[in-house]
Amino acid sequence: MSPVSTAQHGAVSVITVDNPPVNALSQAVRAGLVSGIEAAEANDACEAVIIICAGRTFIAGADIKEFGKPPLEPFLPDVVARIEACEKPVIAAIHGTALGGGFEVALGCHYRIALASAAIGLPEVNLGLLPGASGTQRLPRLIGAEKALDVMLTGKPVKAPLARDYGAIDEIADGDDLEAAAVSFATQCIARGPRRIRDMEVARVDAAMFDATRKKIASRTRGLISPEKIIVAVELATKTDFDAGCAAERELFLECMASPQSSGLRHAFFAERGVAKVPGVSKDTPKRDIAKLAVIGAGTMGAGIAYSGLTTGLEVTLLDNNQDALARGEKTIRELYAGGVQRGKLAEADMRAGLGRLNTSQDYDDIADADMVIEAVIENMAVKKEVFAALDKVVRKGAILASNTSTLSVDDIASATSRPQDVIGLHFFSPAHIMRLLEIVRGQETAADVIATSIGLAKRLGKIGVVVGNCFGFVGNRMLYSYGRENQLLLLEGAAPEYIDKTLYDWGMAMGPNAVGDLAGLDVGYYTRKERTDRPDDPRFYRVADVLVEMGRFGQKTGKGTYLYEDGSRKPVPDPEVNALIRAEAEKLGVEQRDITEQEIIERCIYGLVVEGARILEEGIASRSGDIDVVWMNGYGFPRHRGGPMHYADSVGLDKVYARVCEFTERFGSMYWEPPALLKELAESNRKFSDL
Ligand code: 3HC
Repeated sequence: MSPVSTAQHGAVSVITVDNPPVNALSQAVRAGLVSGIEAAEANDACEAVIIICAGRTFIAGADIKEFGKPPLEPFLPDVVARIEACEKPVIAAIHGTALGGGFEVALGCHYRIALASAAIGLPEVNLGLLPGASGTQRLPRLIGAEKALDVMLTGKPVKAPLARDYGAIDEIADGDDLEAAAVSFATQCIARGPRRIRDMEVARVDAAMFDATRKKIASRTRGLISPEKIIVAVELATKTDFDAGCAAERELFLECMASPQSSGLRHAFFAERGVAKVPGVSKDTPKRDIAKLAVIGAGTMGAGIAYSGLTTGLEVTLLDNNQDALARGEKTIRELYAGGVQRGKLAEADMRAGLGRLNTSQDYDDIADADMVIEAVIENMAVKKEVFAALDKVVRKGAILASNTSTLSVDDIASATSRPQDVIGLHFFSPAHIMRLLEIVRGQETAADVIATSIGLAKRLGKIGVVVGNCFGFVGNRMLYSYGRENQLLLLEGAAPEYIDKTLYDWGMAMGPNAVGDLAGLDVGYYTRKERTDRPDDPRFYRVADVLVEMGRFGQKTGKGTYLYEDGSRKPVPDPEVNALIRAEAEKLGVEQRDITEQEIIERCIYGLVVEGARILEEGIASRSGDIDVVWMNGYGFPRHRGGPMHYADSVGLDKVYARVCEFTERFGSMYWEPPALLKELAESNRKFSDL
């Protein structure tokens, strides 16, 4: 059955798209729209046409699942052109979100009416694309080049009332009955006749605006190709005729579509939705009610978690046995709220209400009735076990007991309680109220409803929850260990910290590993390594970092780490003293220093991640390679347009990656580079991680 149907309401033909879940423009929808318009045009009883959607939203875009496959007719630009060419007025009736190709269909219509709750947008940039069905040519004609650029370059949806102010929407429907409002509006449009955007002139714009825009977005869009193509296409809209502009847009669109960047970003889109599918946890798995949250430990992490909880309406008790720490934690929360109000992100009333839900305490008895407790004390097993034993005694049965550990075994922590089924790891990333990632660590005995509730909590906090298995460092920090190890070895082998950092930054990482180490504090990793009983028997292992910490060079907080930080500045300055120290350490260890290429830096650091990721998959610590990618893109600054380390390896070709890893095994020994059986097997059978 076609996902597009037509009904007649007096003189108005109503074409309804019904293609769950989001009415994406599959081939059948495109073909159905063309047939619907042709039938309406041929129908003498019809004087106006409405395009409306069933379900939760107007058309949310082209069908991303069709991308990368051979294109099927009718092509979307032709469908939109056919709608616009209709001799009877066509009205788009919008609810939910009209996005991408969906909004381009609406732009092909002659008029647009929307519910006040609806939004429009052109988010193609998030997929490494530009609008490909004449959006870059029609929107500037409708609302002006500058606003159109903003819509396309941010990719953010615009709420209907603002879109009406822009001129992108003609009418906001009264009430909730969109179809009735659209029929009434369509009746008025009959007299006005079709109004085609292609025939409009683009309002004059100062040519300097385009270069100013380029400058404005430069740092935000570093390394991306589609933003520049969007600017080029919109610039063309101001200079050439409509058809020439559309032809140029098509070419630019196809170039983007074929780029590895778009492939990486499309992978990111689906991988982030894929994390919701967790083995052993279904949509029907019940969730426990969470209204009262207790956070143990009022340090930066604890305060950030508490603040996140407060902003989503939870009642939060922040507990710390140290009165000063508690006062500092409360102060941090107040400052976070005040900052939010100052930046206009929060209303003062919300701040007052949030702070009204905050309690502080030094007494475990005060959190006996909590629904969930999140422990955020120091990363030390003995201390964590003490906290969990205390929680086990006091907190009501059925409460979830979570640890914010970033490396330690959730099973060992759970063993300090009589209820391991209620214990889970919730690894927040710093700053906890900003970072999108939440690693949800399931222990051996963690109950399914505890996992489901944690996934729900992540959503509520506006985070992406990725469920992972229990091992040292879970997915993120376990892989970071390999990445950091290669960085540290490269230092000894003669690559300067600033050279390594620049190489990886230019490759797309948010920061270089040495700058990150200084920001996070080199002491953090140092003490974590001390906790490990399975350190390799290799004096080169994290040698430079260990020596720096032992000299008191912890990073930004001490003004000196791998770099120097002068007068409280956060700008890393290379330190000749550190370079000399590295040379001396290399000499002591008999490591020969040499010239190292950028390619070697990238391959050793990134393939270090891939090898560890393959082991993680082998062991079932992650359910899918996409989950690993989501962790790295959202928690560790891995470039989204490269799709995460596992997708990147897939895009290079696992045969090539495997061959290089084998070379590294020969050159550097098998201690770190022994290729995992899974990598070998996939490479030899010409498969990808994403095929698993
Ligand atoms: N194509 C195919 N599938 C899509 C899709 C699309 N455009 N948009 C969403 N889906 C799928 C999701 O993968 C998910 O599938 P799953 O249930 O199997 O995991 C399902 O629809 C529901 O999506 P969400 O979980 O994201 O649902 P939300 O309600 O949270 O969000 C949404 C809905 C706002 C529409 C969000 O899905 C979204 O932003 N979608 C992408 C919109 C987009 O990028 N459109 C532009 C596409 S490119 C284009 O149109 C090119 C054109 O210019 C030629």
